[in-house]
Amino acid sequence: MNILILGSGGREHAFAKKLVESKKLSKLFLAPGNAGTAKIANNIAIDPTDFPAVKKAVLENNINMVVVGPEAPLVAGVHDFFLADEDLKDIPVIGPKKDGAELEGSKEFSKKFMFKHGVPTAKYEAFTKDTVAEGQAFLETLKPPFVLKADGLAAGKGVLIIDNLQEAKEELADMLTNEKFGVASSKVVIEEYLDGIELSVFVLTDGKGYKVLPSAKDYKRIGEGDTGLNTGGMGAISPVPFADEAFIKKVEDRVVKPTVEGLQKDGIDYRGFIFIGLMNIGGDPYVIEYNVRMGDPETEAVLPRITSDLLDLFEGVANQTLESKSYEVDPRTATTVVVVAGGYPEAYGKGDVITGTENEEESIVYHAGTTVKDGEIVTNGGRVLAVTSFGDDIPSALAKSYRTIDKISFDKMNYRKDIGFDLM
Ligand code: AMP
Ligand code: GLY
Repeated sequence: MNILILGSGGREHAFAKKLVESKKLSKLFLAPGNAGTAKIANNIAIDPTDFPAVKKAVLENNINMVVVGPEAPLVAGVHDFFLADEDLKDIPVIGPKKDGAELEGSKEFSKKFMFKHGVPTAKYEAFTKDTVAEGQAFLETLKPPFVLKADGLAAGKGVLIIDNLQEAKEELADMLTNEKFGVASSKVVIEEYLDGIELSVFVLTDGKGYKVLPSAKDYKRIGEGDTGLNTGGMGAISPVPFADEAFIKKVEDRVVKPTVEGLQKDGIDYRGFIFIGLMNIGGDPYVIEYNVRMGDPETEAVLPRITSDLLDLFEGVANQTLESKSYEVDPRTATTVVVVAGGYPEAYGKGDVITGTENEEESIVYHAGTTVKDGEIVTNGGRVLAVTSFGDDIPSALAKSYRTIDKISFDKMNYRKDIGFDLM
């Protein structure tokens, strides 16, 4: 089979590394990919949301399946585009259609879905610029901290958690009347604060059956001790020690089953990943959010632990035979440390030469924001590399990732030295 992966991050490099292990794979393409994927597959320099360009690439390269990494092409309807096109309609797309992608594309949609199908989550109300006063009155009924969420996609930046009531009221007005997060905040969801420990559970579904994949915890803040600005993710650990069999069983019964069945009941034919962001509150799971794709950097910790053929699972999704498939997991701990450009998540430079990424004796060095320029690997994004290692426990795996990072160098590189600190 010839496969095209859409995307360019560490997540997509991790998909690529897994798929090239498959005996079923003939040729692998990425659009646009990065310097790491260029070594093991063919990069095509197109934007994954430029659907006519994607179509051309698919037809020129006899692609038999498309795997979508990021949410943007899904929310923009890449899967629907394929189904509506005579030449593309029989080529399976791993990733939901627009209707399913709304689980990530609209916070209000996902909250309504959870309430309708009995999935445990925080109580909420949604407001627009015509109901700012009602929103401010709703805030008065809640206990601090106050959680304000831009309804639409805001690159992980659309959630504000504010301690002070007055400040929360002002932020709400700013989000709604001034569209602080662009059109994404023309509607705002206000919800109850959930106090617990966060983790993510990943599900692959073909619209009928599902597989629960390994859990992971990511570290979103730029600073050590979970301080400073939010990022896309500075590291990940899989499995999550407190997510034992009993907890995962609760997640499956209370969250995964009602979610997959809810999609069916609502007539949403969902084929792809569901990333469930959870809060563990005293041993009970509550859903914070759904994403309609794998997490990044969680994928770089989860996928290497899956020892069986990922392409076989994808075929199960495409043919709706996922229920009959099985997969195996490496029981060891995988830790991922993300190496970022200095300044990220605010302004940062690009084009700095990176050395040392070939040192993979103890770790896997996934590329994220990298490209090749004049024969050299250079930085091309905020999150530059994701370094994953295995160990019998978190400290031993982390030690390997940090030793590998010591051999890597580029101007102003930065990374957190305390990934997993709260789990040890
Ligand atoms: P989201 O984009 O919905 O995942 O929110 C971003 C982050 O905000 C989450 O990863 C949580 O850390 C935090 N968060 C979101 N909703 C809540 C909530 N209801 N209670 C506590 N923390 C939350
Ligand atoms: N690491 C969080 C995300 O992928 O959304």
